[in-house]
Amino acid sequence: MKGKISVKDRVLLILEENKGNTISGEALAKALNVSRAAVWKAMKALQSEGYEISASTNKGYCLDLNSDVLSRQGIESYVRATPQPKVFVYETIDSTNKLAKRMAGEDAAHGTCIAANLQTEGRGRLGRNFYSPAHSGIYLSIILRPEMDMTKATLLTSMASVAVAGAISRVCGIETEIKWVNDLYYAGKKVCGILTEAVTNFETGKIESVVIGIGINCAPPGPDMPDELRDIYGFIPGGFSFSRNQLTAEVISRIMALCDEVEMGNLSFIEEYKARSMVIGKDVNVFKGGLTHDPIKAHVNDIDKFGGLMVQYENGSKETLISGEISVRLA
Ligand code: BTN
Repeated sequence: MKGKISVKDRVLLILEENKGNTISGEALAKALNVSRAAVWKAMKALQSEGYEISASTNKGYCLDLNSDVLSRQGIESYVRATPQPKVFVYETIDSTNKLAKRMAGEDAAHGTCIAANLQTEGRGRLGRNFYSPAHSGIYLSIILRPEMDMTKATLLTSMASVAVAGAISRVCGIETEIKWVNDLYYAGKKVCGILTEAVTNFETGKIESVVIGIGINCAPPGPDMPDELRDIYGFIPGGFSFSRNQLTAEVISRIMALCDEVEMGNLSFIEEYKARSMVIGKDVNVFKGGLTHDPIKAHVNDIDKFGGLMVQYENGSKETLISGEISVRLA
C-alpha cells in the first residue's frame, strides 16, 4: 500500500540503530506490533539482500558491525540534521546528480539526498565521466535550496569539500587534502570528486536550487577502471573498516550544517579549506576551459575569503580564479 512502511524497513531501522547489539525477536515484534513470524520473515528477506544478521535461538538478532549494505535506514540512523532530510537509496542508477536535478525541478525539499551503490553514467566536472563501480564507493547527491544569490554559489563548492574532508576525518580517521576547487586527495591520489550544479533564477539572480554531487572512492579499483585514471585514482584505505552508511550520513549532516552557516554569512570554513589546501604556495598549470586547453604556468599565492584561487603568472600578472571551467594541476 502506498505510503505504508513495510515491516522489513522498520526492522532494518531498529537493527541499524542498534548495530552490533542483539535484540530479541520478541522485543522487535512488540516494538513493531507484529507477530514474531513477521519479524522472522523480514530477517530472512534482509539476509537475502546481503545484510549480515546473526540469529541465535535464545538471544535474538544482531546486525553485524561489518555489515555494509547502503540503505536509507542505515544512513538515517546516523544523520544529525533537523528537519531530518529525505534520503533515497538506489542499487543502480545512471547518475544521482541527474535524478537530483530532476527532483529539484519538481520541488524536492532542501536537504533531499539521493545515494546509489552503482552509477552507470556517473558525471564528473567539465563533462567527464565519474567511475562509479558497485560496492566500492559512495555516490551521493544533495539538493540544497539556500537563501543566497549567485555570487555566493561558488562558496557552496568549497564548503562541500570542507564538509566531506571533515566527515572522512571523523569516520575513517584519515586527513585528506583539497586540490582546488574541490577534489580530495589522500597520499597523492584523488579519493573524492565533487560536482556542484546550480539552477538560478535569472530575473532575481537568486539560486533556486543547487545539487552537490559527491563521489568517494572506498575500495581499490576493479579491472574495468578506465586507463586515464590509473595514475590518479585513490581510495580510502582500511578495507571498509568504516560504515558507508555512517560516512554518507556524516557528509549529509556536515553539508546541511555548513550550508546554514554560509547562508548566515559565516564563512569561517574557508580557514579549514586553506589549511587543507595542497596548492597554496605551489607552482601549478592552469587549464582555462578544461584539460584539453593549453596549460598556463602559475604560482598559487593564496586562496581568498570566497574560495578564489589567487595566482601569479610567469609574466608577473596576477589573477583570482573562481571555479567553473578551470582546472589546476600541480606542476
Ligand atoms: C569530478 O571529480 O569531476 C566530480 C565527480 C562527481 C561525482 C559524483 S558521484 C555522485 C554524483 N552523481 C554524479 O553523476 N556525479 C556526482
